[in-house]
Amino acid sequence: MAKINKNYLNLGNNYLFREIEEKVQKFNIKNPNKKLINLGIGDVTLPICDQILKSAVESIKEMGKTETFKGYGPNLGYEFLREKIKENYFKSGINININEIFVSDGAKCDISNILDIFSKENTCLIPDPVYPVYSDTNIMIGNEIIYMDANEENNFLPKPNSKTADLIYICSPNNPTGAVYTKEMLQEWVDFANLNKSIIFFDAAYESFISCENLPHSIFEIPGSKTCAIEFKSFSKSAGFTGIRCGYTVVPKDLIIENVSLNKLWNRRHSTKFNGVSYITQKMAEAIFTEEGQIQCQKNINYYKENAKIIANSLKSVEMKFFGGYHAPYVWFKCPKNMYSWEFFDYLLKNLNIIGTPGSGFGKNGEKYMRFSSFGRREYVLEASEKIKNL
Ligand code: MLT
Repeated sequence: MAKINKNYLNLGNNYLFREIEEKVQKFNIKNPNKKLINLGIGDVTLPICDQILKSAVESIKEMGKTETFKGYGPNLGYEFLREKIKENYFKSGINININEIFVSDGAKCDISNILDIFSKENTCLIPDPVYPVYSDTNIMIGNEIIYMDANEENNFLPKPNSKTADLIYICSPNNPTGAVYTKEMLQEWVDFANLNKSIIFFDAAYESFISCENLPHSIFEIPGSKTCAIEFKSFSKSAGFTGIRCGYTVVPKDLIIENVSLNKLWNRRHSTKFNGVSYITQKMAEAIFTEEGQIQCQKNINYYKENAKIIANSLKSVEMKFFGGYHAPYVWFKCPKNMYSWEFFDYLLKNLNIIGTPGSGFGKNGEKYMRFSSFGRREYVLEASEKIKNL
């Protein structure tokens, strides 16, 4: 008799953003004439930059000619892209070998799949609140989770304490709170991990939103990190690739656990279970690193940052306390009138026709908070901001 993975029964019914989708669908059926403004899921709305588009068109043409047609690509990703990623790290003074870079279809998949190469005997330290994929994927395989509190008292930036754990998740800039670790704070985590022989999973999906020069964009800016950290990066939010799908993971060669190289294990896993990102997608990703590509992508990031400012200002105008929105595309705030997150979600949907993301979906400490995303189109963000002023 076939048996299921019973760990799945320990998950909530729906993935957070699916749950929201269902609620919105039901609302739309009941209220077909209501126009909703989506400040919920962090999905980009600006079209792909010209420079990237140009590269897409050229590479599609290459696929149409016998001489330049490409079949399966190299397992780790094409060297032309990994070289660009390496160079980009080098600009920040970080030396990464191209064989430490694994191109993939996005950070979400890699953050989930990385657990394949670790034993189920590991305990995982996960901030609460945080991107729900970390806890859901650990629940799916039955790993023991220890939650660390992120709250207003610690500025949503938990520090290492006596709770040792084998696998440590850090998301900075943070989804959903927008909090960012300083170099000094990350150094504490790196020292803690090296001391305990733990591994840090560093999710840097939002690093391109960092607005101050001295804040770290990568865990590898921190001395000692190459013996304890894996970094996940994504082109989704920095170059509008949420629908195109491309990111990369850096697994340093110095990461050795039980005398085994994690780089080797991940290479084995990646080449066995994954067949790579399309040539066209990787050529598009390569274009991000051209001078023009950087300028155009930065323009879009600035647009979203301006949106975040507009949202934050509207909350300020009604004296609502908020966090984030400066180094991150998310504005995190306390629900008014002591409302629960889902209660406020319903209120916003029905009364202001705005979709938010309920804080409790990111963990128990997110209860009574709400997250607004700044990835919407400007006209809708402005409209939502006017409505927020009536809260
Ligand atoms: C979010 O809204 O938290 C993100 O868009 C989810 C994701 O990146 O998968």
